[in-house]
Amino acid sequence: MAAKNQVYHSIALLLFSLGLLAIQVTSRTLGDKSIYERHQQWMSHYGKVYKDPQEMEKRLKIFTENVNYIEASNNAENKKSYKLGINQFADLTNEEFTTSRNKFKGHMCSSITRTTTFKYENISVISSSVDWRKKGAVTPVKNQGQCEGIHQLSTGKLISLSEQELVDCDTKGVDQGCEGGLMDDAFKFIIQNHGLSTEAQYPYQGVDGTCSANQASTQAATITGYEDVPANNEQALQKAVANQPISVAIDASGSDFQFYKSGVFTGSCGTELDHGVTAVGFGIDSDGSKYWLVKNSWGADWGEEGYIRMQRGVDAAEGLCGIAMQASYPTA
Ligand SMILES: *[C@@H]1O[C@H](CO)[C@@H](O)[C@H](O)[C@H]1NC(C)=O
Repeated sequence: MAAKNQVYHSIALLLFSLGLLAIQVTSRTLGDKSIYERHQQWMSHYGKVYKDPQEMEKRLKIFTENVNYIEASNNAENKKSYKLGINQFADLTNEEFTTSRNKFKGHMCSSITRTTTFKYENISVISSSVDWRKKGAVTPVKNQGQCEGIHQLSTGKLISLSEQELVDCDTKGVDQGCEGGLMDDAFKFIIQNHGLSTEAQYPYQGVDGTCSANQASTQAATITGYEDVPANNEQALQKAVANQPISVAIDASGSDFQFYKSGVFTGSCGTELDHGVTAVGFGIDSDGSKYWLVKNSWGADWGEEGYIRMQRGVDAAEGLCGIAMQASYPTA
């Protein structure tokens, strides 16, 4: 009897242990599967295809690390004023992201002389907030048109100007050695070329092509000059933005910039200018934080429908991410 009881007892224990093991195995598989599934969903959303299983495994690992980073940042005990999100850069390490996205090498071209006249120096900024999108001076987020804002202001018509023409045709002079090119050099090109085509006439292809003289000959917008905003002066930048959208260069290399989703960005970043964007306004958040409204060119999945609100009025004269270092604007 005793022996029989013991057998039952052993069997029960064995079954119990097997059950525990099964639960453990299941929960581990579920955990792995869910990140795996999230990666699969992400891949199909962005149309990602990897060349082989090794690449797939490598990208899944990076994706997992990024998801963990994003979730830890969003759930941090010290609540940040901004949220991060999974976007098209979620399978790239920060190093890959920096080298693949940021072609603008502003800091390498700082020997270029800046203009000294600043036509907005004596104006006083009355509004606490400005948003050029509401005045129709900004085209939808897609590719950044260097002078679309001023074109709308001078002609009343808003056309998405051709960024591809800049990539293909603006290869002379200083710009070539600067990869993405300085905004000022882009402006010089538009002046010398007597204008820039519209997006429709000269669509963006994302790679360096050969300059199509035929397509480039139809000018939709032209500018006669450009001016620089006095450097390292957020007040001067505010005067300028109060009057028109302004081209600015920033350091966009940080992980938090890579995954920025919403809120007023206060993330740590340097002043190694590597990316050209447009300041299209400024304002004050409901909690009192001042920000610059900045239009990026990484599509609508990134940030707030393609835009970022960046902290304004920081201690450093250069501004957050160097936003006040190389601001400039085309003149009509
Ligand atoms: C700003 O005011 C100063 C002093 O009155 C004047 O010398 C300067 O030309 C003005 N600048 C502009 C751009 O109007």
